[in-house]
Amino acid sequence: MEFSIKSGSPEKQRSACVVVGVFEPRKLTLPAELLDNAARSYISDIIRRGDMEGKSGSTLLLHNVPGTLCDRVLLVGLGKEKEFREKEYCDAIRCSVKTLNETGSFDGTLFLTETAVKKRSVAWRIRQATIVAQETVYRFDQFKSKKDEVRRPLRKLTFAVERRNELAAAEEALAQGLAIAEGMALTKNLGNLPGNVCTPSYLAETAQKIAQDHGIACEILERADMEALGMHSLLSVAKGSHQPPKLIVLQYKGGKAEEKPLVLVGKGITFDSGGISLKPGAEMDEMKYDMCGAASVLGTIKAIAQMKLPINLTVIVPTTENMPGGAASRPGDIVTSMSGQTIEILNTDAEGRLVLCDALTYAERFEPETVIDVATLTGACVVALGHVATGLFANNDSLARELAHAGEEAHDRAWQMPLWDDYQELLKSPFADMANIGGRWGGSISAACFLSRFTKKFEWAHLDIAGTAWKSGADKGATGRPVPLLTHYLLKRAGKLH
Ligand code: BES
Ligand code: MN
Ligand code: ZN
Repeated sequence: MEFSIKSGSPEKQRSACVVVGVFEPRKLTLPAELLDNAARSYISDIIRRGDMEGKSGSTLLLHNVPGTLCDRVLLVGLGKEKEFREKEYCDAIRCSVKTLNETGSFDGTLFLTETAVKKRSVAWRIRQATIVAQETVYRFDQFKSKKDEVRRPLRKLTFAVERRNELAAAEEALAQGLAIAEGMALTKNLGNLPGNVCTPSYLAETAQKIAQDHGIACEILERADMEALGMHSLLSVAKGSHQPPKLIVLQYKGGKAEEKPLVLVGKGITFDSGGISLKPGAEMDEMKYDMCGAASVLGTIKAIAQMKLPINLTVIVPTTENMPGGAASRPGDIVTSMSGQTIEILNTDAEGRLVLCDALTYAERFEPETVIDVATLTGACVVALGHVATGLFANNDSLARELAHAGEEAHDRAWQMPLWDDYQELLKSPFADMANIGGRWGGSISAACFLSRFTKKFEWAHLDIAGTAWKSGADKGATGRPVPLLTHYLLKRAGKLH
């Protein structure tokens, strides 16, 4: 889809459809009022008859509205004005784009972007509208022989801003929104691909393509390289699989040469069967999503490179399958991690931390400013926070605050969980330096505690996205989270938010 920004009055738009909002009960927004004035109360008459209350999610499509230059006017209900916040704004954009796409409009001009959202700038409204619009038209149908084609799909979307002096900031926000949406689409595609296609080698090839497209340095470490580095924890997870493991390293250098990089580490288990500690059969297909951490850090670096942010960003992806088999790791096996610390593998299904710990140790060589890992790490995190918030852990409170704040602003929220020392004793092992599981209670915290033992040398945060990376049920699919949170955090650090 093509996007543009405009400032002008709604009645003067030569567009297939002009979209304006109506608050509940029957209160026209300013652009709707301008249209109504040009149309000699045609719209307010219709509304008075009871055709449009303004309830959120409702729409009314009008043809040949007098006094206007557009083919159609779409009225979109925004709910009560007092309750119009981020979520309501995004819902209204989603509803508009869906309707435009289904009603045969080739192009549309949205005036909803002029409606104030408390505490949010014009740039925020444009960036968010762009992301939501792209999300609404996203489809993953590459394996369907017959695709549900939209007969006359929406091709061009114009966002209106009230004043000409807002145009520059709006254009920049549009470019940012497009980059973030593209990063999210990559993240979703990788997540939605089946495990027999999206293997560790496929992730490595994808990383190489991103690197080529954007002039990023890319290095792929093979099994032999990992052996030489002593990454026996990571390698212990790969033992049961016929797919070779990979360690992907991407380095984007948009900042000054002497600036320390920010490092993102993403869990890349392309299928998690549990290994010898085999998972039960129900919904096991969803474990193809166990590489969504990897997908999200790849989506993020792609977005950052597209925006040409003046920062140094490194991405590390440890990737393998977790499969059972005669060569697979057994419960009770003890391995030595790259850090030198020994681990008793009591459950082969707690494999995420085993691959992440070696990737986190590897991160030390980049002398990072900050390290953030992203992982579909624990079912316990879903029990704690459901599918709304990502679990957030950090060994530095101001980093936790910044990430939580970025999540809030990007409407991709995370909630901080404790990392107190009291939880560390859950990981005691009689035979090794630590066990890889901490028992039934506080499972997402003991997993984070495990990682914290490998992150002592830098400022670090951990995002557990087990509940937020994908949706189950009828609309099963990857969400693209936490790309919005991460990109927002990085935009802020780069001083590029308005
Ligand atoms: N990938 C899973 C976590 C997961 C489970 C994410 C369900 C989303 C939905 C992870 O590798 C895992 O299996 N974790 C175990 C840890 C346990 C054995 C300590 C879990 O959460 O059950
Ligand atoms: Mn597992
Ligand atoms: Zn897993």
